[in-house]
Amino acid sequence: MKKGLALLLAMMTMGLGVGCGSQAVSSTSGETNQAETTSNTSTETNGEAKTVAIVQYVEHPSLDTIRESIITQLAAEGYVEGENLTIDYQNAQADQSNLNTIASKFVGENADLIIAIATPAAQAVAAATTDIPIVFSAVTDPLSAKLVDNLESPSGNVTGTSDAIPVDQTFELCKELTPDVKTIGFLYTASEVNSQSVIEEAKTLATDYGFEFEESTITNSSELQQAAEILATKVDAIYTPIDNGIASAMPVLAEVGKTAGIPVYVGADSMVADGGYATVGIKYEDLGVKTAQMAAEILNGKPVSEVPVATLDQFYKVINATTAKAIGLTAEVEGAIVVE
Ligand code: TRP
Repeated sequence: MKKGLALLLAMMTMGLGVGCGSQAVSSTSGETNQAETTSNTSTETNGEAKTVAIVQYVEHPSLDTIRESIITQLAAEGYVEGENLTIDYQNAQADQSNLNTIASKFVGENADLIIAIATPAAQAVAAATTDIPIVFSAVTDPLSAKLVDNLESPSGNVTGTSDAIPVDQTFELCKELTPDVKTIGFLYTASEVNSQSVIEEAKTLATDYGFEFEESTITNSSELQQAAEILATKVDAIYTPIDNGIASAMPVLAEVGKTAGIPVYVGADSMVADGGYATVGIKYEDLGVKTAQMAAEILNGKPVSEVPVATLDQFYKVINATTAKAIGLTAEVEGAIVVE
């Protein structure tokens, strides 16, 4: 992990790997996977061929990174696609009825294990089966999403990884980079539980940090441009959490921020790579690695109740230098990963 970050920073100092948006983030961090891979080759599988069904809620760079990392790490754990592992991968394109169809398909084919990427996907498969083990990935708040009753020892067939983020650290960064910000606009998709719980926390924290806030919600990505434009006229900065609807159209929000000349603080590194100004968040490659390790434990026979929900405790500051320049702000922050 440390090695991966050091390498990333070294590459950036040498002027490598800071080329193009989300690619810069995901390709350089491939090194992280490599490091994790070699340390895990000793794991034993129980020898049988398995079927793993993977459902991803929507295509956006962060969820794609998670999926790729999961598949790479499953191989490192001894489950190699095409050898002893069949993967049935389905993407729901952010559509609830697609999610339901995919969930029934997985149950019908009696997969050995289901991996669900993002909250709505996890909720759909959890509603469809109480038998097949489910490992979710990147569910921000598994308790509010009603996926588990207990994080330490889940009592049902569901466990997984959470990408809970430190909103307070993002507010600290906001104070440091843009001390004149008084009013923040909270922008998110109304139906996403993952965003609701982060915004609840952000509202409480706003008072502690002396911020006023405005709130604006969308029902889907097509409403983002208009909602963001209106919000931008009322606030000094926008904050958007780890929201799938917004991440799917992040370049639109980034443009609105640049045009209005205000910073857009975001919940995930990929959203900075897609033009957001700054975040403090996790590395999603690492979350994919953790998800695959938990999946492998269950495939090897461990009961779900003995596989606690995992969160990551390493957070990274990520800043977009191109966006910073466009709105006349700095990209110089100690210890931050800079993308362009
Ligand atoms: N945390 C989101 C959820 O619970 C999924 C997610 C992972 C995400 N990475 C992201 C959303 C990046 C937006 C941007 O559904």
